[in-house]
Amino acid sequence: MSIASETHFSAPEVYGSRAIANIARALPFVERAYASVRFSILRPKLLSVMDLMLTDEGRILDVGCGFGLFAAYFGQTQPKRSIVGIDPNARRIDMAREVAKSIGCTAHRFHVGDVRDVPLQGSFDAAYVLDVMHHIPAEDQRPVLERLRDLLVPGGMLLIKDITTEPRFGLLFTEVLDRVMVGWKEPLAYRHHQDWGAMLTSLGFKVRIVRVPDVLPYPHVVIAATKL
Ligand SMILES: C[S@@+](CC[C@H](N)C(=O)[O-])C[C@H]1O[C@@H](n2cnc3c(N)ncnc32)[C@H](O)[C@@H]1O
Repeated sequence: MSIASETHFSAPEVYGSRAIANIARALPFVERAYASVRFSILRPKLLSVMDLMLTDEGRILDVGCGFGLFAAYFGQTQPKRSIVGIDPNARRIDMAREVAKSIGCTAHRFHVGDVRDVPLQGSFDAAYVLDVMHHIPAEDQRPVLERLRDLLVPGGMLLIKDITTEPRFGLLFTEVLDRVMVGWKEPLAYRHHQDWGAMLTSLGFKVRIVRVPDVLPYPHVVIAATKL
């Protein structure tokens, strides 16, 4: 008997289109349109990179979870994940709860709060922060990463998807679209990926970074930081 026939690996399709369709069905019209934009920005390559980096079971923190789209996605690709989502926007948290309930992610939990001070019980096997770090004021970014480190178990993975600051045109393109979403008053504090790498290393993480090219000029980076 060959090795291949002795071992059974489940290999979900790379894009998880069934998982995304389930999420879309659970959302009202406007949020469904937003979800389709988010899933077209965080494309198959990005989602699959992140899915494989995250532990396939255990307790995972989703920082700035928004409508809970990625908690719903990562919860479907690996059903043993229990995801705790936090976001200061109460309406988004309500929606995240609805979506998780309707797709059967019953172990997921969602709390309204700011990552800087929301009360969180217990430790986490992993945490992810998808396009949120640049919404946190520059002077608070290091304390946030410090807090996330303290919430992780040793060996736990902190996964950050953000935007790097080069090429300049890519940053400008992203900033214009971010401004359309958040207006002019909110701070947007992007950093170069090497800056994030140095900060995370100094906080006691082992860091790997990949840039993920896109057809649109978003300068995406995925940072995988393992707590030592
Ligand atoms: C671009 S959206 C990304 C939402 C979600 N992570 C996703 O990928 O669809 C940024 C999110 O970060 C949240 N956010 C902003 N500042 C935050 C903070 N200090 N603590 C936690 N979440 C925050 C916003 O409310 C918003 O939902």
